Amino acid sequence: MRSLFPSFTDELSYDDLIELYDYPAKKAWVRANFVSSLDGAVQGSDHKSASLSSKADKRVLGLLRSLADVVVIGAHTARVEDYRPVKSTDRRTVIRQRLGLSPAPAMAVVSRSLDISASLLEGGHAPTLVITSESSPKNRRLDIARRTPVIVAGETSVDFAEAVDALVQRSFHRILCEGGPTLMHSVVASGRLDELCLTWTPVIASGDALRLTDGAAVEPPYQLRLKQLLEEDSELFACYVRP
Ligand SMILES: NC(=O)c1ccc[n+]([C@@H]2O[C@H](COP(=O)([O-])OP(=O)(O)OC[C@H]3O[C@@H](n4cnc5c(N)ncnc54)[C@H](OP(=O)(O)O)[C@@H]3O)[C@@H](O)[C@H]2O)c1
Repeated sequence: MRSLFPSFTDELSYDDLIELYDYPAKKAWVRANFVSSLDGAVQGSDHKSASLSSKADKRVLGLLRSLADVVVIGAHTARVEDYRPVKSTDRRTVIRQRLGLSPAPAMAVVSRSLDISASLLEGGHAPTLVITSESSPKNRRLDIARRTPVIVAGETSVDFAEAVDALVQRSFHRILCEGGPTLMHSVVASGRLDELCLTWTPVIASGDALRLTDGAAVEPPYQLRLKQLLEEDSELFACYVRP
């Protein structure tokens, strides 16, 4: 992988990538990560994202998880992609120890229905949190709360800004949102997105796949500026931050 912007650097090492992708020393930082075709599809023909992803993209995804305190995911993506807690690997442990982080990032599932698999709820090397709204089924919510932390943020749907504040109160400062587009719409609409890491995979997919966000137009459109651009095998790894 090489850097094209802000400076040209050939052959970045894994340590270089850690430095480039590390979170800023700020109290709370919300980063989202997506992979997209050149024409904006974030789902492959199988309605999953893995079919758009490459080895290099998975390397970046793994690194972003290694740098995060919590991975926030929409319940539909968790169901479709059979999300499990993030594992603690040797490489991950070394990176996290060096940065003074816990052994593995926690997962946080955003859901109103609370239809979340037992394997995800059980947690792994770190607990799985549930972020929901007052409108979620009460008995199911109480049942889940006996097993794992539940954050109630918002009435009819999850208020993402409130959810971020609740995560920060629990010392989750390095927040990584892995989508999908419905959740991403709430993230953008909340005004709390600090950074978007976007992999442009060099294919044109056509079809009716979802885009990065799914929801009503955000007015005014959310402004971002390019912070860095990396490349490997014609695939572009862009990071955009708030101006
Ligand atoms: N290319 C990529 O990088 C990428 C990344 C992620 C996902 N994807 C793809 O995107 C597709 C799924 O996206 P999606 O938009 O349908 O689903 P999603 O955003 O993953 O999940 C939507 C669900 O999350 C919960 N949710 C989200 N925002 C909420 C809010 N503000 N309040 C309450 N609940 C909220 C609801 O769960 P309940 O239904 O449980 O109430 C909602 O139905 C999949 O095909 C997946 O493969 C692609």
